[in-house]
Amino acid sequence: MVSFKELGLVNTREMFAKAINGGYAIPAFNFNNMEQLQAIIKASAETKSPVILQVSKGARNYANQTLLRYMAEGAVEYAKELGWENPQIVLHLDHGDSFELCKSCVDFGFSSVMIDASSLPYEENIALTRKVVEYAHQFDVTVEAELGVLAGVEDEVQSEVSHYTKPEEVIDFATRTGCDSLAISIGTSHGAYKFKPEQCTRDPKTGKLVPPPLAFDVLDAIMEKLPGFPIVLHGSSSVPQEYVDMINEHGGKLPDAVGIPEEQLRKAAKSAVCKINIDSDSRLAFTAAVRKVLDEKPGEFDPRKFCGPAREEMERLYKHKIIEVLGSDGTA
Ligand code: G3H
Ligand code: 13P
Ligand code: ZN
Repeated sequence: MVSFKELGLVNTREMFAKAINGGYAIPAFNFNNMEQLQAIIKASAETKSPVILQVSKGARNYANQTLLRYMAEGAVEYAKELGWENPQIVLHLDHGDSFELCKSCVDFGFSSVMIDASSLPYEENIALTRKVVEYAHQFDVTVEAELGVLAGVEDEVQSEVSHYTKPEEVIDFATRTGCDSLAISIGTSHGAYKFKPEQCTRDPKTGKLVPPPLAFDVLDAIMEKLPGFPIVLHGSSSVPQEYVDMINEHGGKLPDAVGIPEEQLRKAAKSAVCKINIDSDSRLAFTAAVRKVLDEKPGEFDPRKFCGPAREEMERLYKHKIIEVLGSDGTA
């Protein structure tokens, strides 16, 4: 058993309270490798933004959970080396799908876990979430739960349609589970293809797809039921057109990729939405930079020559999100 406190990490409790009061949101960036982690920490340290490092089940399988744990511990030291005196870094399990997985992360030094039982019937979601909360809270680890279903792929759970969170359920759910934050469904979804072309309109000037707006009325109704309660948005990548174009220009094929417009995320960040999850945009930044180098220099075979530019591109992206979208800079 390792406590997250020994690793220099923090849980989300104080961070979320400050974010709601301050009208900004904390970035939750997924990481799977060293370059992503370096870029996240550098961007957070240089902007003095609190940050949530997210590890999915897939990331654990890809990178090994022991290694990821020590990488997070190293991240705290790296942040200090970069001049961030009191780093506010959370190590969070993204989309935990069982009690055993959540327990293993709590025991292993994570400071926050998500139990995603949103695909289960309501009462089963409550029972499983409650079980995780009871265990995690013994060690001061905070718990994110989910109510409502996002369209697209939620790790291995696939949902074709989005089922918005029902505002009439949130008080009962939050009270009976004791969860610390709630992920809701208001029209975001995972991946780089968040909407089908038939759900969008086309910008007559650019010919690009314009997605339907998020259901802010549902968010407002939830906030009315649970004033000041921390709300989480998954599936919040914007799928920047410049990366899609760069990928397509250098041998990739991403037709009609579409994300959440940043102005909508800016609006959400000012509300009780205090955690915004971004993974796909970082994948796009990485892939765009790698493709460009390999396309322009076909003789290159030193991974540092393409992973280095990919790391710089991700750092630019993270800083942009922190400063221009979430507004969390200067708060840690
Ligand atoms: O919500 C899903 C995250 O983007 C993690 O994706 O399961 O492919 O690591 P992954
Ligand atoms: P994106 O696929 O929009 O980046 O969402 C990531 C996410 O929600 C991780 O849990
Ligand atoms: Zn997610």
